[in-house]
Formats: sequence, structure tokens, C-alpha cells
Amino acid sequence: MKRFALFLLALCAGVSVLRADEGMWLPSEIYKNIQDMQAKGFKLTAEDIYSINNSSLKDAVVHFGGGCTGEIISSEGLLITNHHCGYGQIQSHSSVEHDYLTDGFWAMTRDQELPNPGLTVSFLEYMEDVTEQVLKGYKPTMTEEQRIALVDKNIKAIEKKAKGDVPYLKVQVKALYYGNVYYLYVFKVYSDVRLVGAPPSSIGKFGGDTDNWMWPRHTGDFSLFRVYAGKDNEPAEYSKDNVPYTPKRFFKINAKGIGEGDFTMVYGFPGRTNEYLISDAARYTAQVSNPHKIALRTLRLDIQNAEMAKDKAIRIKYASKNASVSNAWKKWQGEAKGIIKMRAVENKEEFEAKFTEWSKGKPEYERLVAKFHELYSAIEELSLVQDYQSEALNAVEIVSFAGRGQRGAEKFWKDYHMPIDKASFIALYNAYNKNIADKYKSPYFKEKLAEYGSIEKWADALFTEQPNLEMAAEIYKETNKHFRENYAPVLDSVNKEITLLYRTYMRGMMEYNKATRGTKVFYPDANSTLRVAYGHVKGYSPSDAVYYTPVSSLDGIIQKDNPEIYDYNIPQKLRDLHAAKDYGQWEVNGSIPVAFIATNHTTGGNSGSPVLDAEGNLIGVNFDRVWEGTMSDVVFDPEVCRNISLDIRFALFVIDRLAGANHLIEEMEIVK
Ligand code: ARG
Ligand code: GLU
Repeated sequence: MKRFALFLLALCAGVSVLRADEGMWLPSEIYKNIQDMQAKGFKLTAEDIYSINNSSLKDAVVHFGGGCTGEIISSEGLLITNHHCGYGQIQSHSSVEHDYLTDGFWAMTRDQELPNPGLTVSFLEYMEDVTEQVLKGYKPTMTEEQRIALVDKNIKAIEKKAKGDVPYLKVQVKALYYGNVYYLYVFKVYSDVRLVGAPPSSIGKFGGDTDNWMWPRHTGDFSLFRVYAGKDNEPAEYSKDNVPYTPKRFFKINAKGIGEGDFTMVYGFPGRTNEYLISDAARYTAQVSNPHKIALRTLRLDIQNAEMAKDKAIRIKYASKNASVSNAWKKWQGEAKGIIKMRAVENKEEFEAKFTEWSKGKPEYERLVAKFHELYSAIEELSLVQDYQSEALNAVEIVSFAGRGQRGAEKFWKDYHMPIDKASFIALYNAYNKNIADKYKSPYFKEKLAEYGSIEKWADALFTEQPNLEMAAEIYKETNKHFRENYAPVLDSVNKEITLLYRTYMRGMMEYNKATRGTKVFYPDANSTLRVAYGHVKGYSPSDAVYYTPVSSLDGIIQKDNPEIYDYNIPQKLRDLHAAKDYGQWEVNGSIPVAFIATNHTTGGNSGSPVLDAEGNLIGVNFDRVWEGTMSDVVFDPEVCRNISLDIRFALFVIDRLAGANHLIEEMEIVK
């Protein structure tokens, strides 16, 4: 327990200094930041952000589906999130007769709202530090295997007790700081969530993959849902007798707008960050893994793009696949560039040298950095083999489709174009053959290559009139089996040791920081749990002689508008509204604000998160980050790291003027 007490002590150090805007903080401990937040303009209290006794802002925030955030914006359970978060639902209700992706969808009455089987939203009831219970019975002499077994057992007991026999509660214990701290999270899960509205993709996805991860941005990335409950307001399975959920709290909307320098806060569920990586891992990401994965995806994208440009039907088939391949592809490039530009690897090495010097005579920390080097170098080649398994061998559509038991066959064939897949097979398998050492290739792969003489000839056998499903399944089965049996166990056990080292390293860094009176602040890496980030509206300079101002407008949409280019072809009605300056009450300085950037620290999963002003009112919906700042998952640079949000006034304008769905505006509480 002594180690743990030290850990908490180290955490509390340096709380009252004014900080850079880096950090994703625990809501229940936000009182530690509240002075800093207030100094930066926040007008509310820690209790307003998170309270277990009274309703607080947290009660209006939900985990939306698996990986997004959403927020409640009316007393009748109306919810807003991103268009790209509701994309799957919007698509699933679409058909040739009702193409909601293309034309948008607006429920004009409650009974037109569309149910979405499988979609849930989760409200956090409370979170609680359960470190002591999780580590009960732990002795420092235990091996990592023994510790894992003990921790698992304790966690199961804690979860069981918290859940009781309430079917709609979701409980989870999550590790923070690599298992130095554990938190219990208890959610109420609502499963009747109906689609209320979505703009056409030409607004909700405006700029497509060309503008993705970029500023200036003009995407109206929002969609609306409504949470329904049983008559008792508790979660209930879908039924037409369910009623709109009455929330404990909903966000009021600030339609007065924001400007440069204004305080902003993002409240949501960031997925994954790695801010405390050792230099080896940062180097591997920036110099090895990202470049290889980018190159492999470039091969696929070039093939897809060429075919998509030839034929509209193919473009539609591959639109969504192309978007998802390109999303990470583009992010990895920004991330690798950012890590290199910030000299993150060199800075980490310098820190590690000082840390090692300081740790002499402290047995717990003394050989840490050296051990990290050993472990990382032991798995570096295998990590690349793993990257190629997923990004090359398994990335051929027919191979993973056949290998995983032909799941979703109808949709698969509807969106499949064999020439793209065949060309991808040739490109990806050649890249694998060239870049992975022979000793790591499966005997199966080598035999097949020898049998056919070349990847091209092998492709001719795999893709005849129709793809050979049996052969595709065999490729998947054999190559994955080889990986699973020979490399996965090594990777798995070394990665466990690495986690153990990070757990110690975390404590060491905090002690070091305290001993040297350093100013570093610590926050737990994102792990899909609820967090608060705060900062302010701010432009940035992406490169020499260029400065980006922080707010974009409808005029910018009109400048980009181009009927010839799919991603920039806006609805005629939007052109007409602009030409007539028919902006209603939403006009600001002769235009409509569309999006803005700010210094909040966010990551994937923060999509759809509420962006709040100093009074806790909604000013925007988070949907992206700027390209030059995507390394913030590994290292945060206050100069260029910016989150991108939809300005809520653009959503209001679209709902009101474009969709004529004024009844939705009327149920919101708008502060003017
Ligand atoms: N980059 C954003 C995110 O990571 C938006 C992705 C969806 N949009 C797209 N054009 N692919 O999720
Ligand atoms: N678009 C991302 C998401 O879907 C958010 C952007 C980011 O990574 O910050 O969560």
C-alpha cells in the first residue's frame, strides 16, 4: 500500500499552477483542476460538472453506440451526435426509394422517428475509485500472471456487486495509469434510441475525405436521435408504447456564439491515447509502423480511387470502405510527421537519460529504461509482422470475408468489385513478400508462391470468373494460424511485461517529477471512459507564413461548392438560401458560422462530444482534429493541437431553414 500512497501523493503535486491545455481529466476529480479552469474563464464549479447527489452536466452526456459520444439537448430526450456517428443507422434506413444518406431525413412528427435495433446510449450513473478493493490480497512478490489472476477475480466481484440484478445497468472496472489506479463505472443503458434527423451527406459529410482531418473545415457533421424509455422513465426494450426519456439534465444551447479566446470544455469518451510511451515505442510508431501501414493503405486507396473514378456504381459501392481506409491512413501521416517535427523521440531519450541517472540506487527504477529497450527490441520485428498480417494479408476483402465465415454475405456481395480486390491482392501480397523476412512467412505462403511462381499467377488462380472462396478461406486460415501459433504468444507475453514496466515507470516519472520540482502534469491515458478537456477557441499556424483563423462560415461552403466534385456538391436548397441570405435568426455578420477550432485535448471517441462554454451551455459538437496536431495521442503540442467542432448555430440553421423542422428547435432551450 505504501507504493500506492506515494502514487497518489505524486499525482496531487503541482495542482494549482496554470497549465497548458493538454489533458483529459477524470470528472469525479475535476475539483483538482477547477482553479485552473476558473482562471481560464470557466464560471461554474466542480460540483456542476460532476456530482453524485445532484444533477450535473455529466447527466446530459452519453456514450453513443460503441465508440462515439452524444448529448441530450431537450427535456424530451432529444440527442445530438455526429453525422459520421449515426452513419450506420442513417444508411440502414436508406433504400432506393428513401435515400436518407443522399437526401437527409427529418421526422416531422414523433411517430416518424425511426427505431434502431442494436443501438444503445449509456448514461454514467457514478464512477468510483476502487483501487484498494481491486488490489486486495496483492503482494509485491507476486508474478504478473498471479497479479492478473487476482485482479480479475476482484474485479468480477466488484462488478457483480455493483450490478446487482438490474438488467439495464452496465458496470465496468477500468485500469488507469497502467493499473496503478482502478475505477468502477456504472451506466444506465437505454436501448430504444430513434433516428430523428440527419442532413444530406453533402452537408453532413461535406468535404469528404479530401477535407477530413483538416482545417479550414466546413462539414455539418451532426445527426439527431431521441432516447425513449418505459413509462417509469427507466430503460426498456423498443416498444411503440415507450415514451420520450425525461433526462436528469439537458444542455441549454448558446446561440450568442463564441469568439477567439473564449473558454471551451469538451465532455466525452476519448478512446485511446499513449502519452507516456518510452522513446522506443514513439520511434517505432513514427518511423516504422506508421510508414509501413501508410504505404500499404496507399496501395489500396490508389487502386480503389482509380476504379471509383471510372464508374459511379463502383464509387457508391466503395464510398464507405474507402472512407474508413482513408481515415486512419491520413491520420497516421499527420501523426508521424508531428512526432518527428516535435522531436518527441529525442526529447523522450533525453528525459530517459536523466531519469536513469536519478534512478541509480533506487532498485525499483534503476534498470527500467534498459529493460524497456530489451523488451521492445525483442518484439520490434514481430510487431511489424503483426502490422502486415492485418494491413496486408487480411486486408484483401475476399480473404477476410471467406476466412471469417462469410458473415454479412448480402451486403458483402452488394458492395464488392472483384477487379479492385484482385489488384489489391497483388499489390499487398507482393509488399508482404518483399518487406517481411522469409523466416516469418508461413510455410503455406512460401509453398503457394513456389507453386504458382508469382503473386500475379497466384492471383489468377484465386480470382477467376468468380473469386475462389475455398482458396480465400484457406489463405486466411493458414496465415493466421501460423501467426497465432508462432508469434502471438511471444507478443502477448512480452506486451504483458511491458505493461508491468509502464506501471512502475508511471510511478517513477511522478516521483522524479516531484524530486526535481518539475512542472509536468499527469493525467491517465484515454481508455473510453468519461473525461473533461478544456481550453479555448484559438487559431494556429500550420506552416511558415500561414495563419488559420478559428471560425469557418457558410461563405466558405459556397467557395468550395462545385457540382462537378462529389465531395463538394451541396444541395441546391443551400445555394438558394445563401443567395437569398435567408438566414433567419441565425445570421452572424452577414453569414452563418459553420465550424471552429479550439485547444481542447481530444481523440477518436470524442466524436459527437458536447463542446461547452464558460457557463456550461452547448456551443458546438466535436468531430475531428487538425492534421498537424494528430500526434496529440502521443505528444501534445499546444502550438498546433486543435480539436474541430461544428458550431451549433450551423446545425440550428440547417434544422430550421433547410429542413423546416422548427418543432425540434422549439423543444430546445436556446440562450440568446
Ligand atoms: N476524422 C474523423 C474521425 O476520425 C471523421 C471521420 C469520418 N469522415 C470521413 N470523411 N471519413 O473519426
Ligand atoms: N473523428 C474522430 C472520432 O470519430 C474524432 C477525431 C479525433 O480523433 O480527434 O472520434
